[in-house]
Amino acid sequence: MPALINPSILSADFANLERDLARIANADYAHVDVMDNHFVPNLTIGLPVVRRIAEVSPVPLDAHLMIEDADRWAPQYAEAGAASVTFHLEAAQAPVRLARELRAGGARVGVALRPATPVEPLLDLLDEIDMILVMTVEPGFGGQSFIEGTLPKVRRARAAIDAAGAETWVQVDGGVARGTIGRIAQAGANVFVAGSAVYGADDVAAEITALRELAEG
Ligand code: DX5
Ligand code: ZN
Repeated sequence: MPALINPSILSADFANLERDLARIANADYAHVDVMDNHFVPNLTIGLPVVRRIAEVSPVPLDAHLMIEDADRWAPQYAEAGAASVTFHLEAAQAPVRLARELRAGGARVGVALRPATPVEPLLDLLDEIDMILVMTVEPGFGGQSFIEGTLPKVRRARAAIDAAGAETWVQVDGGVARGTIGRIAQAGANVFVAGSAVYGADDVAAEITALRELAEG
């Protein structure tokens, strides 16, 4: 399965977003972390900024919403131009209704799980979603170390998707780097978010290529 590499612009220079988006033109999507200081203890960017970066990004946007009241806010990120909108299962009142609304708005739908949230409730709903995001750190900050205990969840998600003959993507986010990406891919993930590993590299484009090659084994 081809590996998709989605650099997280959380590790970009927020005063130079257009320049730092241009640096990831060989990526698959730009991963945009939206945090509201309630769902997670950090605050980043919101709709006006996402709307503008959707206009200047060389690659489609993969919005990761770490916000409360996802039912209310997520559809507006599809309208703002995000090609993929991921909300947290823990923050949605009616995840299936929201997923349908996002698809109707033209976006791919992702559902994210904190490290301690089980994947099983999603496995009967695979027809309704395009991607499961298994958080491999506690959401909120870049640069944290990968939580090994999340790998069995990646394996269970992949096994259920394959058994159902579904096309759902499995994304991982947090602590993805050269030293971890191989075994995460082995566990069954096919979409890899990497913030500090990509933007901390001297040659950002080469790092994206290196990560993709390691993931594809
Ligand atoms: C964390 C964010 C991640 C973050 C990953 O809550 O969702 O996307 O940018 O950063 P790294 O790759 O540095 O762990
Ligand atoms: Zn993220």
